[in-house]
Parts: sequence; structure tokens; C-alpha cells
Amino acid sequence: MCGITGIVTKNRDDIGALLVMCSRKLTYRGYDSVGVAAVKDGVVDLRKDVGTIDEVDKMLGLSKMRGDRGIAQLRWATYGAPTKVNAQPHFGCTPDFYGAHNGNIHNYAEYRQELIETGHIVRSENDGELCVHAVDKYYEETGDMFEAVRLSTRDLKGAFAFSVGRADEEKIYAVKMGSSLVAGVAKDATIVSSDLPSILPLTNNVVYLRDREMVELTAERVRVFRIEDGKELDREPEISNVDPHAAEKGGYHHFMLKEINEQPKVAQDVMGVLEGSRSEDWLKMIEDSGRKFLVACGSSYNAGIVGTYYFNRLAGTPLVPVIGGQFIPMYGKSLADDSLCILVSQSGETKDIMNVLNLVKETGKGKTLGVVNVIGSTLMFGADAYIPMACGYEVSVPATKTYFSQTIIFAYLAARLGERNGTIDPSEAKEFIRSLAEDLPRLTQQTIDRTGILTKSLAQTLIDVKDLYCLGYGFTDGVAREGALKIKEICYNHCEGMYSSEFKHGPLSIVTDNYPVIFVTTREDSWMVINHINEVRARHGRTIVVGEYEESLSHYVDREGDFLTIPESDILLNPLLDVIPLQMLSYYLSVDLGINPDLPRNLSKTLTVD
Ligand code: M6R
Repeated sequence: MCGITGIVTKNRDDIGALLVMCSRKLTYRGYDSVGVAAVKDGVVDLRKDVGTIDEVDKMLGLSKMRGDRGIAQLRWATYGAPTKVNAQPHFGCTPDFYGAHNGNIHNYAEYRQELIETGHIVRSENDGELCVHAVDKYYEETGDMFEAVRLSTRDLKGAFAFSVGRADEEKIYAVKMGSSLVAGVAKDATIVSSDLPSILPLTNNVVYLRDREMVELTAERVRVFRIEDGKELDREPEISNVDPHAAEKGGYHHFMLKEINEQPKVAQDVMGVLEGSRSEDWLKMIEDSGRKFLVACGSSYNAGIVGTYYFNRLAGTPLVPVIGGQFIPMYGKSLADDSLCILVSQSGETKDIMNVLNLVKETGKGKTLGVVNVIGSTLMFGADAYIPMACGYEVSVPATKTYFSQTIIFAYLAARLGERNGTIDPSEAKEFIRSLAEDLPRLTQQTIDRTGILTKSLAQTLIDVKDLYCLGYGFTDGVAREGALKIKEICYNHCEGMYSSEFKHGPLSIVTDNYPVIFVTTREDSWMVINHINEVRARHGRTIVVGEYEESLSHYVDREGDFLTIPESDILLNPLLDVIPLQMLSYYLSVDLGINPDLPRNLSKTLTVD
């Protein structure tokens, strides 16, 4: 949520253009409002308004702003409505101080009051403004910008990062206090940002930061300090090998479609990682642990549900899937020394997951194994070990390829564990792993190819539907939930994902003539799913089926196009492939509804708030 970018250049005057170019790459973090503070000859020009970066740039000429340094912010509204006054960056009491944050300041109400009572002119209802005032306050006391930034963190409670500058200093500062922050050193500029994509247009010379660290940017260098005592840390930039063009659409209309189409390659890449030498450590960590929790949110949680079925089926090993925010109240006190929390997060920054990571660290009870996509994220650095999803950037707000990668990771680990503990025959395990490595990429491509046109025309028949269900059974439980989440998220329809045998325990009453219910199945479970389909059809509901082609299933759809078939495959690959038609259906429905699936309203890809 929210993206900040700060840049200091050497002998350049095009700070507006640089900030817009780099910040545009953070659009997935927030698109409620945008602002740029540009400093030229010691004067700060601050322009901001409601809208996307392109809209506000057009309105206010952000990219034409002159200056040699500045800060930009893209906002996802939490504290304060998405209005011009709440847009960031903010000034302090005077235009001498300018800055912006991402994250949340939890003591917002009390601290705002305290600042007002001590004479600060607070103009907005946005918590980011308090960061600038806190620096302003400590500058009054110390007359030293470095110290003011460092000490300001004592007043601010929450998980956040901010960047701040003073008009008369040719430096920019930034702090990392629980939200992501990375820096970079280019030939004629330095940069600090909430995320790597906005650094890469300038440089691949990257400085990764840890929590409770701060940076000082001059045109030539990035210096890193420990916030606690101001001690300078020896942190050299590292060369990032992330492809800077990965965050471009590459000819597709939307990132979502591009990312769906990248899934065959993801299957290949993640299997490359899993077949590498580090797997031994991950397997050992799982084997050596007692109770195993799988903690995740949204799509990552849905993938975790699929994983739980694989672990049971192939390894006879129970995983307890828990929604991130529920973990502490539900299981926090149940952690034991040998517990394992498998923390699954694309961004590696989701606050609900960070809370669990921090709990395990603070109590010393158990270990953490991260499953993470963003390299350099807090989860990657903080977990005892981490498995990379190997997806490259996922820019579109709806998760697709990262969900897919997560399910492959769980399927693979389950097969390896089962092979080792004797739950499955070693030859069966080997064959499944072979099919993951060799068949899955090809079958994924085939599924995309064969369901493209079908889902496009199916979407047209659903254009007026506002309410539907997506049901799965056994292995497809998590898949159905994921399909429903996609439809909710990017089509703004109410679509509930649930277990198909549970439908008759209440929700079935919603079914009337033509009410649509999507059933997702594997070959193994279709006999049971047919029972549930019959319950809907007996009430004249419309059934749509996703799964391998089976004659028996084909009788339960009214039109051929209501049966989205995946290619024939190993039964254990069915749950992995079944999600693809659902991703594509939601994509085409979203586009038909005139929605931009990459940037659904009210959302942000990285949720660093509670
Ligand atoms: O970065 P994370 O995997 O922790 O994000 C979790 C959810 O916010 C995320 O999966 C969300 O549900 C997706 N945007 C759904 O498509």
C-alpha cells in the first residue's frame, strides 16, 4: 500500500520526469492520489491531486517539474479520504520540510492532537503528514536534519517507511520501520523507494535495507545507518539481476493477461529452484518440526489450502492453514519450541504475515519458513529460511502466476516428504515430480490455449450476473476459492467460493432459475461433484464446470461452452491446471465490464497495514 520514491541527482534539472518515470512502476501499490515535491534552488514546488499518475501528470504537469531532487508518492487511502489535501507528499509547518510515507501510524489521533497543541499546523487527516511534522519538531530541537529524522521515529508508532527532505539541504533521508524500502546508486543519481521496480529504470545497483535502518542520499552515495544509535553500517550496493523490462506489458493489453501467459515458464523456473540443492534444508526443516502452520492471506491462503490437501495426500503430514490476521488470536499461544510457521506471501511485506513473523521471533517459539516472491522483502530477510517463488515481477493487483507457483511448491514438497517418510511409493513420487517438471509447463500452455476463446465467450454470457458461487471438492477446495476471489476482485461481483458438499447446508436456498454455480473438479472427485451439481440443477440453476473432460460431466451443462476443460493429465496435476480457466474467465469478464483488471478499485497489491 502506497509507494514512495525519493531521488537526488547530480547536475540534473529534470527531477519531475525522473520521479514520474520511476513512480509509475509502483502504481500497483496505490492509485488513489499522486504527488511530487521537487526542489530547485532551495525552493520546494509541491503538486498533488486525486487520480492515477497519468491523470495527475496530465492535470498538473508533474513530469515537467524542474529541480535536482525530490519525493513522489502514490497513495492507497487508509487514514483520510482520497482527497487533494490528504494526498502526499506533505509540507511540515513551513514549506522547508517535505516528505511522504507508506504504512500506518497507529498513534495517529493522539500524536496529531499533541502536535496541534504544541503549535504545529496540521492540514490533512492523513497520517503521512505526521511523519514530516515529527521531523520538523526534532529539527527545532536539534537543528540537525539527520538527528531529527532519526529521533522522529521515537514518536511514531506503527509499521511504516518515510522519505523526507529539507529545502536547503541537498540530501534526502528515508527510514524503514516495518514497511519495505530499497535504495539504489546510479551514475548521476541516487534513489530510495518502497520497491525495486521503481529503482530499476535508473540502476540495478541496489542497496537492500533492514527494519530500523535509515538512509541518507546525496547525489553520489547512499549511506545506511542504524536508527537506534545512529551508527553507520557498512552496506555496499549489490547488482540486481532482475530484468527491468519484466515490469512492462510486452504487447499484452494488461499485466494480468501477460502474467497468466507466463505460467508455463513459471512452472519451469520454480521447478528449477525446487530441484536445486536448497530443497534439502527446506525438507529437513519441515520434517524436524512439530505442529506445522501455513499462514497466508488472500490468494496465497487459497494456494495454502491446495497445499494442505497435497501434504495430507502425499505425505500424510497435517498442515494447519490459517488466515494471516487470525493466527495470533487463534494459535498465537499454541506455538511450541518445535512449531513451524510456513509464511506464504508474494510481496513478503503483508502486515498480517509480518505480525506472525515478529511473534515467532519475539517469543522464540518455533521457526519460520517463508515462501516469497519479492527478493529483498522483509519476509525474505526475516524468515529462518525462504523458498523463492521464482515468478519475477507480478505487477497486476490480482495474483495469478504467484498463486500458481505456490501450489507447485506445495505439491513438490509434499511429494518429496512422502517419498522420504514412506507415505507414497518412491516410484509414484518420482513420477509425479517428473510430471511437474516435464509435463506441467506444456499442459499449462495447452490449458491457456484451449480456454482462451471459451472463457471469452463464456464471460459474455455472465455480463449481467451480479451474484454467483464457485464450488470445489477435495483438492479443488482452494482452487474454487481462488476463482471466486478473482471474480470478486476484478469484476466487482459477489462470488462466494466454498466447499461443494457444504452448499446444501444453507446457501443452496439462493438457487432459482438460471442462478449460476461454477463447479471445479478433478477426475477423481467428479462422481461426488455430480451429486452436488444435481442438487443445483434440480432447482433449475445453471451449472458451469471446470475440469478434465468426462462424458458423465458433460451431461450437466446446458451449452458446450459451459464446460471449461483442461487437458488430460496425471490426476495430481488437475488441481494445478484447474485454476487457469478461472483466471481467464475473471479476466475477460472484467474487461467486458469495462474494468481495468490490473488496478481494481479500492485495492493495493502490497498491504502493509493491519
Ligand atoms: O503479498 P501477499 O501474497 O501476502 O498478498 C496477499 C493478498 O493480499 C493477495 O494474495 C490478494 O488476495 C490478491 N491481490 C488477490 O488476487
